[in-house]
Amino acid sequence: MTTSTPVPPARRAGQSQRTTSLVDRDLRSLWHPFTQHAVWPGDDPLVIDRAAGMHLWDTDGNRYLDGVSSLWVTVHGHAVPEIDEAVRRQLGRLDHSTFLGLTHEPGIELAERLLATAPVGLTRVFYAGDGSSAVEAALKMAFQATAQRRRAGAATRPLFLHVAEGYHGDTLGAVSVGGIDLFSATYRPILLATRTVSSPGVLGAGRSRVERAAEVLAEMRAALAEADGRVCAIVVEPLVQAAGGMLTHDVSFVRGVRELCDEFDVLMIVDEVATGVGRTGRMWAVEHAGITPDLMTCGKGLTGGYLPLSAVFAREEVYEAFLGVPAEARTFFHGHSYTANPLSCAAAIANLDLIAERGTVAHAAWVGERIGELTASLAARDGVVEVRRIGTMTGIEVAPVTERTGGAVCQAARRRGVWIRPLGDVVVLMPPLAIGDDDLTHLCGVVEDSVAEVLA
Ligand SMILES: Cc1ncc(COP(=O)(O)O)c(C=O)c1O
Repeated sequence: MTTSTPVPPARRAGQSQRTTSLVDRDLRSLWHPFTQHAVWPGDDPLVIDRAAGMHLWDTDGNRYLDGVSSLWVTVHGHAVPEIDEAVRRQLGRLDHSTFLGLTHEPGIELAERLLATAPVGLTRVFYAGDGSSAVEAALKMAFQATAQRRRAGAATRPLFLHVAEGYHGDTLGAVSVGGIDLFSATYRPILLATRTVSSPGVLGAGRSRVERAAEVLAEMRAALAEADGRVCAIVVEPLVQAAGGMLTHDVSFVRGVRELCDEFDVLMIVDEVATGVGRTGRMWAVEHAGITPDLMTCGKGLTGGYLPLSAVFAREEVYEAFLGVPAEARTFFHGHSYTANPLSCAAAIANLDLIAERGTVAHAAWVGERIGELTASLAARDGVVEVRRIGTMTGIEVAPVTERTGGAVCQAARRRGVWIRPLGDVVVLMPPLAIGDDDLTHLCGVVEDSVAEVLA
């Protein structure tokens, strides 16, 4: 057997033997997600050792401000005593038991607590593991519910309508309704059949976000008419296409999608995996639009950034479409070994407790406004194409000056003790919701200096 172990990077000044050895072992045995291993060693991989509050420490004791909430998941910070304690308490009681035909208190309580925060009309919670698996479940639910609600013999509705530049995860169903070519083009021959409309967040010259929303809604209407009753659901990210580059759109788009779904009798799936649990300054982004979807996914910040857990919220009519005697096979035949893992549920309940006690969602709205103030001068700088933001979710698009300009800005920030990760040439800021003014000012200052360094 031959292996292609990459050449380890040159040893950094002050790098310990432990770090050198861990990087070497990593490069020999691991394959990281969304990572080009032919160039990663050249980026000087960081080995994270511990975390507390807003910071991460590497194995050489260097501290980094976590500017992207460890990929958009951290809510109150790292090593939060209340969440640590809740997980420990749960460990002493029940580590895991299946949710297939059994139930448990953390799973029940979390569902009740989530429904109490959800838009009126969402009445059921189905657990999954990650954002992608929640999307996958929602797509299957939409297809099956539609089939089971229609009269016998009616034509099936195999199509999903979705939006260019969207991202819903990396499993095959989720990739099918995604719209980022880089992630989906390779797999096109094995993806589901869909209809795609343009992105309401890609404006084109002279267009306002309101005008663009109206244009894409008209495109959607035409696509629904053309598909002639074969679409079962429309899938959207509400207010911001996050992985697409923080492409923000007007609330009229989300409202218009709801209206089209009602008019064409199509289910509306809203993917709140990135936006949910406070990131936009509301608990759920759909609150900005005042609508209720038929199915809504969440994940990421659900456990405060501690453990994998995601969920699909459903309207009662969708849930009822699955009821019947077993022989009818209307059951949702879907679920995982670790569905509703009690440790994850305990972390999520503690997270929701803290959100309520500390007013974290209102604080997140303030964080968003403050990011707006702190990035105003950056937005006006030559070479910065646009700063886009919804609540705390911020994308700073820089004009490309090298092959990986966004990456170069993030490397410059890392040298200044801030950890951020780009989406192409969009530098993303998405700090933990509980971040305070000093850390936020530091984060935005470092990003401004890093952009200046790279664009100089
Ligand atoms: C809107 C949206 N949906 C789904 C996903 C996939 O979530 P996960 O990475 O937890 O599978 C993401 C991830 O970024 C996302 O932004």
